[in-house]
Amino acid sequence: MKAPLKLGIVGTGSITLRGLLPHLTMADVSDRVQIAALCDPVFERAQAAAEKYHIPAAYASMEEMLEATNLDALSIASPIGLHFAQGKLAIEHGKHVHFNKTMTTTVAEADELIALAKEKNVRLVASPGELINPRLQAIRQLIQEGALGTLTWAVTGSSFGRYHEEEKSVRQGDTPLSNINPAWYFRKPGGGPLYDMTVYGLHAMTAVLGPAKRVTAFSGVRLKEREFMGQILPTDMDDQTMMVLDFGHAFYAFVYGVAFGSLPNMGRPLIFGTKGVINGASFNDKVIDYPKREVAEKKGYAASLPHVNGAHEDVEEAHVFEDVMQLVDWVLDDKPSLATAEHARHVIDIIESAYRSAETGQAQDLKTSFTVMT
Ligand SMILES: NC(=O)c1ccc[n+]([C@@H]2O[C@H](COP(=O)([O-])OP(=O)(O)OC[C@H]3O[C@@H](n4cnc5c(N)ncnc54)[C@H](O)[C@@H]3O)[C@@H](O)[C@H]2O)c1
Repeated sequence: MKAPLKLGIVGTGSITLRGLLPHLTMADVSDRVQIAALCDPVFERAQAAAEKYHIPAAYASMEEMLEATNLDALSIASPIGLHFAQGKLAIEHGKHVHFNKTMTTTVAEADELIALAKEKNVRLVASPGELINPRLQAIRQLIQEGALGTLTWAVTGSSFGRYHEEEKSVRQGDTPLSNINPAWYFRKPGGGPLYDMTVYGLHAMTAVLGPAKRVTAFSGVRLKEREFMGQILPTDMDDQTMMVLDFGHAFYAFVYGVAFGSLPNMGRPLIFGTKGVINGASFNDKVIDYPKREVAEKKGYAASLPHVNGAHEDVEEAHVFEDVMQLVDWVLDDKPSLATAEHARHVIDIIESAYRSAETGQAQDLKTSFTVMT
C-alpha cells in the first residue's frame, strides 16, 4: 500500500476551517491523505487551526512551510489574487497542487502554471470540479443525445449579496478562527463575484456545453463600499458584470456576476432548446436521474460526488474535499481528474475577456479551449 499523501494548506481562512480541515482530518481518509502543515500570515490563526485539528505544524508563511517540511502536495486556500504566485512557488518546489477557485486571474498566468507543471511532472487539480458531478454528466449526455433538440440559449450567474460578510462561524467573532476579514473579496486583484461565485456556473455551463468562442460584456463598480462589523470596506473591483457568451452558430448564453439580486428559480445549469428546458435537476419539470441522486436530493448537490460518502455528506463544502481527493487519486493511483487546469483556464479566459470587452467596448475572441476526457 502506498503511503498517504502529505498535504500542506496555504491559508487557514473560511474554506480551510469550514471545509478542508473538517473533511481531510476524518479517519476514513487518513490512509490516503494527511495534513502535515498549515500556514497563514495571521500566525495565531494557523496555530489555533493546527491545535484544533491536531495538525503537526503551523507556519507564518508558505516559504517557511516549504523549507521546514517535506510535503507531497499543497492546497492553495488563500485570497484569489495570491494563487498564481503561490501556485508557481509550489510547482517550482516539485509539489502537486490543488487550487481553490479560481486558479489564476489571467490566461497568461494559467499558461505559465500549466507549462511549469508539465516541466516539473506535477499534477494540478483546479476547483470547482463541476465536471465530476454526476448530475452534470447526465445532463451533458442528455444534450449530446439530442434530448433538448436544437439548443437556443442558456443562462448562469451569481450574486454576492452579503454572503461573505455574514459567513457567521468564521467572520463575526473575536478569536483568530472567527474574526476573518473578507475585505479582499471586494478588491483587485482577484475580488468580485465572477472569480468567486459565477465561476461555478461557468464551469458547469462549459462542462455541459463545451468551450465558448467569444464574449462581450458591460462591467463596473456599483457599490463603492460595504459595511462589515462596523468597518467600511472599500470596493475597487467590479461588482456588476453582465456578459453574453457566443458558443457558435447563434447559440448564446447570458452570464452575470452582480452585487445583489439573483434570477429566481435558476438551476445550475439553465439551458433552453427546441424541445424544452433543463433547469438544474429537472428536464421539462421531470427529475433527471443520475448516480446517487437520492442522497443529493436529501443532502445537497455535492453529496452525489464520488468521495462524498458517510459523514462527509453532512460537512460543509464537500465539493472542495472532492477536488482534493481527485488530486490524491491522481498522484497515488495515476488516475487523472476531470477537474483540470485546462478547464479552469478556459473559464478564466471567459472572465478576463469579459473585463477586457467591457473596457474596450469590443467583443473578444476566446483564445483557449479544453477537452473532456470521458
Ligand atoms: N468562503 C467560501 O465560501 C469559499 C468556498 C469555496 C472556496 N473558497 C475559496 O477559498 C479560497 C480562500 O477563501 P476564503 O473564503 O477561505 O478566504 P478568507 O478570507 O476566509 O481566508 C483567507 C486566509 O488567507 C490568509 N492569507 C492572506 N495572505 C496569505 C498568504 N500570503 N499566504 C497564506 N495565507 C494568506 C488570510 O490571513 C486568511 O486567513 C479562495 O480561493 C476562495 O475562492 C471560498
